[in-house]
Amino acid sequence: MPDALKIGVAGLGTVGAATIKILTSAANELAERAGRPIRVVAVSARSKGRDRGIDLSSYRWHDDPVALALDPEVDCVIELMGGSEGSAKDLVEAALKAGKSVVTANKALLASHGSTLARLAEQRGATIAFEAAAAGGIPVIKALREALVGNEITRVSGILNGTCNYILSRMEAEGLDFAACLKAAQDLGYAEADPTFDVEGYDTAHKLALLTALAFGTEVDGDAVYVEGISNVTPLDLSMAEELGFRIKLLGVAERTSQGVEQRVHPTFVPRTSQLAGVMGVTNAVEIQAQPVGLITLVGPGAGGGATASAVVGDVVDLARGNRVKTFGRPSGALAKPIRAPMQQHEGGYYVRLQVLDRPGAAATIASRMAERGISLESILQKGRGTPRSASGAVPVILITYATTELRVRDAVAAIAEEGVLDGPPQVIRIER
Ligand SMILES: NC(=O)c1ccc[n+]([C@@H]2O[C@H](COP(=O)([O-])OP(=O)(O)OC[C@H]3O[C@@H](n4cnc5c(N)ncnc54)[C@H](OP(=O)(O)O)[C@@H]3O)[C@@H](O)[C@H]2O)c1
Repeated sequence: MPDALKIGVAGLGTVGAATIKILTSAANELAERAGRPIRVVAVSARSKGRDRGIDLSSYRWHDDPVALALDPEVDCVIELMGGSEGSAKDLVEAALKAGKSVVTANKALLASHGSTLARLAEQRGATIAFEAAAAGGIPVIKALREALVGNEITRVSGILNGTCNYILSRMEAEGLDFAACLKAAQDLGYAEADPTFDVEGYDTAHKLALLTALAFGTEVDGDAVYVEGISNVTPLDLSMAEELGFRIKLLGVAERTSQGVEQRVHPTFVPRTSQLAGVMGVTNAVEIQAQPVGLITLVGPGAGGGATASAVVGDVVDLARGNRVKTFGRPSGALAKPIRAPMQQHEGGYYVRLQVLDRPGAAATIASRMAERGISLESILQKGRGTPRSASGAVPVILITYATTELRVRDAVAAIAEEGVLDGPPQVIRIER
C-alpha cells in the first residue's frame, strides 16, 4: 500500500475529538477506501491536560498550532479551532505556505479571508477543503463544487443554523417567546452562552458567503451579506404566519438578480407546504436551484461533533485519494468580483405588523401611505378581540403586500410611523413563495 497520509489536528474540542475518533476507529476501512492509510501524527490545543475522551498518547503534542503546521512529519492539517483571526488564521497560512493542504470547519475564517487563502493555497500547490464549514454533515460543498458542475446555479437558500431553527420551532409549537426558547436551547447545549453569533444571523451569513462563492463562481464577499437575526420575532408573528399558511424560518438566500448577486439572511415567511417549512428543530436544509437539473433539496444535521466530523473525514479521504479540487471549484484568478445587488432593490412580498393606536382614520392613513408608494396589499388583518391590547389600547394590524421592493416598504413604514398612529416599532418580515 502507498505511504500513509500523515495528519496534524489543531483543535481537540467537540469536532476535533469526534474527528480523531472516526479516524482511529475506522482506520482500516478508511485506508481501504482511500487507497492508503491515514494516520494522525500530531495534535494541538490550548490545554494539554484536559480529558477529551480520546487517547492522545501516540501523537506529538504542539502547544503552538503554527509549529504543528510546520512539523516536518505532517503532510496535511485539520484546523478545528475556530475564529476568523489569530491562531486559526496563522496556522492555516503557515500550512499553506509550506504547501500543505488544509481541511477546516471554520466558516468565520473563510468568510473573511477565503479568497486570499484560496490564492495562497493555489500558489503553493495546496488546497483548502471545507465541507464541514457550511451545513455541518450535509455534503453541500461537494454538491456545489463538484457534483453540479454541469449546471448553471441560479439560487441557493437554506436553513443553515440549527440553533435558530430550534428556537423558532419551539416558539411556534409552544407559543413561547424568544427569550424562553433561547434559554431552553442553551440548557440543551444547542446554543452558546453568548448566542449573539447564532441568533443574530452572523453564523448563517458566513456559511451563505461560502455557498455563494461556490454557486456563482465569485470571490467570497462576506461583508456584502445583508443580516437580520431572529431575536425580534414574536409568538404573534409565528401564529399569524400559521394563520396565513406560512412558517417563519431564518433563511440564508443567495440569488442572481438583474442587479447582481443578492446575499441575505433574515427571518422569512415560507409556505407551510414547502420542503423548508417541514424542517424543524436543529436540522439544516439547503435548496439549490440549477439548470438543467432543477431543484435539489438536501436535509440533515448541520452541527454536532459526529455530523461535523463526518464532513471533515470525507475531506481528509479526498486528500488521501489525491482529489485536489480548487478551493472554490475553479482557479482563484477566475473567480469574478461579485456585483452586489443592493438590498433596497430586493423584490418580494412582505408581512408588516403594526401596533396601531385606536384613532379615527388610522387605517385609512396606513392604506394611503402604502398606496402612495405603489404597494398593493394582498390582505389586511386586524387582530382585535382575543389579542392582548397594549396599555395604550393599540391593536396589531397585519399587512401582506404583493411583490414590491424593500425600499418602498421601508419608506412606507417610516412614513406611517411619522403619522403618530403606531405604538412601538413596526415588524417587517420578507415572504418567499
Ligand atoms: N461544534 C459544531 O457543531 C460545529 C459545526 C460546524 C462547524 N464547527 C466549526 O468547527 C470548529 C471547531 O468547533 P468546536 O465546536 O469543536 O469548538 P470547541 O469545542 O470550542 O473546540 C475548539 C478547540 O480549539 C482549541 N483551541 C482554541 N484556541 C486555540 C489556540 N489558540 N491554540 C490551540 N488550540 C486552540 C481548543 O483547545 P482546548 O480544548 O484546550 O481549550 C479546543 O480544543 C469551529 O470553526 C466551528 O465553527 C463546529
